[in-house]
Amino acid sequence: MSGHGTPIPMTSHRSGPLTGVAEVPGDKSISHRSLILGALSVGETKISGLLEGEDVLDTAKAMQAFGAEVVNHGGGNWSVFGVGVGGFAEPDNVIDCGNSGTGVRLIMGVMATSPITATFTGDASLNKRPMARVTDPLALFGTQAVGRSGGRLPMTIVGAADPVPVRYEVPVPSAQVKSAVLFAGLNAPGKTVVIEKEATRDHTERMLAGFGAEITTEETEEGRVITLTGRPELTPQEIAVPRDPSSAAFPVCAALITEGSDVLVPNIGLNPTRAGLYYTLQDMGADLTFENMREEGGEPVADLRAKFSPNMKGIEVPPERAASMIDEYPVLSVVAAFAEGKTMMAGVKELRVKESDRIDAMAKGLRANGVTVEEGEDWWEVTGLGIDGVPGGATCESFLDHRIAMSFMVMGMGAKNPVSVDDGSPIATSFPIFESLMGSLGAKLERT
Ligand code: S3P
Repeated sequence: MSGHGTPIPMTSHRSGPLTGVAEVPGDKSISHRSLILGALSVGETKISGLLEGEDVLDTAKAMQAFGAEVVNHGGGNWSVFGVGVGGFAEPDNVIDCGNSGTGVRLIMGVMATSPITATFTGDASLNKRPMARVTDPLALFGTQAVGRSGGRLPMTIVGAADPVPVRYEVPVPSAQVKSAVLFAGLNAPGKTVVIEKEATRDHTERMLAGFGAEITTEETEEGRVITLTGRPELTPQEIAVPRDPSSAAFPVCAALITEGSDVLVPNIGLNPTRAGLYYTLQDMGADLTFENMREEGGEPVADLRAKFSPNMKGIEVPPERAASMIDEYPVLSVVAAFAEGKTMMAGVKELRVKESDRIDAMAKGLRANGVTVEEGEDWWEVTGLGIDGVPGGATCESFLDHRIAMSFMVMGMGAKNPVSVDDGSPIATSFPIFESLMGSLGAKLERT
């Protein structure tokens, strides 16, 4: 679990050129869902390319605690022997989801409609995050939740013994909330309907269909209306987890801001609900191309080629793109600092309730390193200093947030002076090979 061990201070120095091939790990969202859906099927689900970051490993442990058998064959190959929809056993002990909001919220959803009780906790970051966004809709199924003030972990969930299906309009753009309700709907009789006004990542819908559930999505005036028929028998699958576009963002953005760079990041899923960053970088004038565009498992996939881009311009990032790049704003704000002019990022209130308040965390570190940032509750604006203009030289707090730590490490690769973070240990939650992979491209990173 991150954030409980010794902090790992890290420093990043001006680097470049970055060259070579960056094989980033498996997708975090799909890895969590592969383990969970495997646990809900009867028989063996085989997973290759699983992200072996702490967040996903905590979900693997949780699935075991609820009665599934999870086997690590090595090299990213795993098997899950599931217990079927409604087959979860009551765990003997507290479920610790570490740093992972996705893990805890999805798992609360899955167990919410079984007659069992489970208590959840996490690290100092997760235990500050809002859970009412999940427990409110779960209450409609008949689930009870008792947590700390403000709906925070540790929290005990008493699953509904006699669940009813629900119709729920998700009030915030959140794939975690949508997914928790859909997973709860699996063990409720009849049809559970989830409506989302803004499209968020749709891995749960795609994967539920892949495991044999009856699920439809309609685009209507109300938004996306997702209808799931409860109590399906899910069929075990073989899943090849694609590489994570959110992790690919770090070598891509590092290449754009370091002189002479040319980096290939192969096999990146460009599902439209995840790819917003890459279109935004192109809009800014980045030398970023999608090579070998193809379809794999029904998803658009490409090899990303990113080259040093000394003439990027600040833009207004379209707010309707926010959900499709929500995890990428921290590293985008770093690229914005190396562009000419202002980059405005609006409609991003959700950034305030991630692993940290990401607007606050990035604004503090950017300012400490000589970059001007204006902010409001749901927007922020970075004034670019041009490719050679970012002073750097300061130490930033990572606030137990992997993406904050990696973003500042990327900043140091292009800044005039080294940039440090107080604690790089959270990087292991999503990108355990970050240091070695960036080092192999030529980045000058060190533990200090
Ligand atoms: C995720 C959904 C997003 C994202 C997180 C992963 C998922 O969170 O930030 O990293 O796998 O469903 P929200 O649902 O809170 O937007």
